[in-house]
Amino acid sequence: MTGGTDQRARMRREAWNEFVRTAASNGDPYALLLGVPDEPTPLYAELRARGPLYRSSLGTWVTGSHALAGRILRDRRFGVRQVGGEKAPESIAFDNSMLGEDPPVQTRLRRLTAPTLNPRRMELWRPKVEQYCDDLIGAILAKGGKFNFMTAFAQQLPVRVMSELIGIPEHYWRTSFRLTRRMAHLMDGDVTVEVAADVTRAIEESAAMFREIVALCQDDPGENLISDLLPAVQDGSLSMDELVALCSFLTLAGVETTVNLIGNATSCLLRHPDQWARFKDDPAGHARGAVQETLRYETPVQQYRRIVQEDLELAGQHLPADTELAICAGAANRDPEAYPEPDTFDITRKSDNEVLSFSLGIHFCLGATLARMEAEVALAAVAQRLPDLKQVAPVRRRSSYIIRGMLQFPVAAA
Ligand code: HEM
Repeated sequence: MTGGTDQRARMRREAWNEFVRTAASNGDPYALLLGVPDEPTPLYAELRARGPLYRSSLGTWVTGSHALAGRILRDRRFGVRQVGGEKAPESIAFDNSMLGEDPPVQTRLRRLTAPTLNPRRMELWRPKVEQYCDDLIGAILAKGGKFNFMTAFAQQLPVRVMSELIGIPEHYWRTSFRLTRRMAHLMDGDVTVEVAADVTRAIEESAAMFREIVALCQDDPGENLISDLLPAVQDGSLSMDELVALCSFLTLAGVETTVNLIGNATSCLLRHPDQWARFKDDPAGHARGAVQETLRYETPVQQYRRIVQEDLELAGQHLPADTELAICAGAANRDPEAYPEPDTFDITRKSDNEVLSFSLGIHFCLGATLARMEAEVALAAVAQRLPDLKQVAPVRRRSSYIIRGMLQFPVAAA
């Protein structure tokens, strides 16, 4: 970016921040959610009280209604790009990532990736994930004392799993993780001009790293995603740029989300001693329910966007093409129309309604089975080997309105 462009971008960013602050001080619940409150529950209710679809004073149309969010996500008249295929202005998303593409590009990339992540294949990973959890907890116990649950455990597990699954050799793991952390600001929503520039640099560095890794895999293929996709590169159904972008995107999508599911689930259990006691009585029996309830109650990906592809009527409102909608999954997962007593954390909850934490429709998370399995195994291992785990100091949250998670979760094993 040139100095002049940089300056203009900074001024736009400052004007936007001021706009959000003014809207928040006037009580706009969506603008208040963008401020990343520690406790968003009252804002979810306020947001829904404005109706199934309301226009925030920031201009964005917002829904926190479970039923309406589900309808939008399944309706092909809503996409992720502007009409004509343009990216949303100033977005710093990956080029070629399926999440930032509409069909037919998204369909092709998804079809090629899905076999590696299919639920049957993911089940084969369970013993490996159990072993990783065992090793990580063994190291924590050997060290003793207080530790940051996020860096010592929650982060380590998905980093190892995704690295192996993609085919990243071990000597690249540290570099890959550092790049993922820098790219993770993509998921922070509004970032400064400097951070946005660093994200762009990290994406370029990650692409360069994956070009090297793909070359290694070409010489020595293995049981991993890159090797699975090499034939598609050879037959021309996937370009090398797309493969490289897919690898960077998957490290981010598979690590930065699962970390927070594991962290949030552990924190929810410790904050609800009755549920923690019940869980410890039968970790294997309750693991699925505890993960499902965390996805609903403390939704790791709080919101995502859709763009109207043609003029339409929705919930009594006329929305012209290119209108942007925010789907507030965190609020929709607490919608009393979908879940009785939505603000109660109950690992035995039964519901026929789908949680919106992995989205729905054509962009439904391809890693949902893997993420659930990792979190289930992780929670069961924590309950069995760290049954007296305690929080010992206040948490530090990630400053992101998209991702709900912690940077620091100070705990002690006893
Ligand atoms: C707790 C963990 C996770 C959460 C909460 C999560 C959440 C999501 C959400 C909300 C979306 C869709 C966003 C939208 O509709 O705009 C998505 C898409 C996606 N996720 Fe995940 N994810 C998780 C783990 C993973 C993992 C482990 C992987 C890879 C192994 C993964 C791969 C993907 C991919 C490839 C897409 C794009 C699908 C498409 O556009 O067709 N995710 N995820």
